[in-house]
Amino acid sequence: MSKDLQIAIDGPASAGKSTVAKIIAAKLGYIYCDTGAMYRAVTYKALQDRIDLTDEQAVMQMLSDTKITFIPGEPVQKVFVNNQEITKEIRQPEVTNSVSTIAALQGVRKRLTVDQRKLAENGGIVMDGRDIGSTVLPNAQVKIFLIASVDERAERRYKENIQKGITTDLETLKQEIAVRDQKDSTRKVSPLTKADDAIEVDTTSMNIEQVVAKILEIVAKKS
Ligand code: CDP
Ligand code: CDP
Repeated sequence: MSKDLQIAIDGPASAGKSTVAKIIAAKLGYIYCDTGAMYRAVTYKALQDRIDLTDEQAVMQMLSDTKITFIPGEPVQKVFVNNQEITKEIRQPEVTNSVSTIAALQGVRKRLTVDQRKLAENGGIVMDGRDIGSTVLPNAQVKIFLIASVDERAERRYKENIQKGITTDLETLKQEIAVRDQKDSTRKVSPLTKADDAIEVDTTSMNIEQVVAKILEIVAKKS
């Protein structure tokens, strides 16, 4: 198996991207990069600083004054803002429900795309997000677009929350996911979209092992 492939995994919220990307990276001995965590970190800091999330100039100013660090690793990529670890904090519902607003800002996308390309320049990476195959790594050798029905994705998030001891309402989760998909798919800059040469995998009735096996089969053909 080639050691230097770029593997891009895109798709809507809760399609299983990060779960399968992590497993595939571990199996291939590749780096795993969760680009959603980068948008979440910027959102967390902007919320903390009480910045208007639609004010691009203010957000860019905050970004230039802030050191955001990502350390790839197991079991999760660690995230720091000005040396304070915020790995857990970026998963808070407040961040989840605001991140699409920050992700629509052109300056933020441009800046994070530079960081993402740098991380991927030597290959040997599995990167998941919304625009990896279409914009960040247009020459990635493997591009996967994972989808699943909204009902299934909400159900998965619901079960995940139960495991974490968080009580949520399935209908609310479904609505939140649909709103985020809509915002991510309709923004002007790098919207959530399947690259022309990406392979779509509908995971609605597939378990994690089946999705991993399917992607590894695609990788094997490309390497
Ligand atoms: O894991 P989950 O599906 O909740 O989302 P995530 O991957 O953590 O991404 C959070 C948000 O960041 C998405 O809803 C997008 O608004 C944004 N995002 C993006 O715009 N582009 C990416 N490459 C990755 C994430
Ligand atoms: O990264 P993304 O938002 O696309 O999804 P995720 O956080 O990897 O997956 C959301 C939840 O769905 C997790 O609890 C996974 O364990 C679960 N999952 C699943 O039940 N079946 C799959 N085929 C893929 C993920």
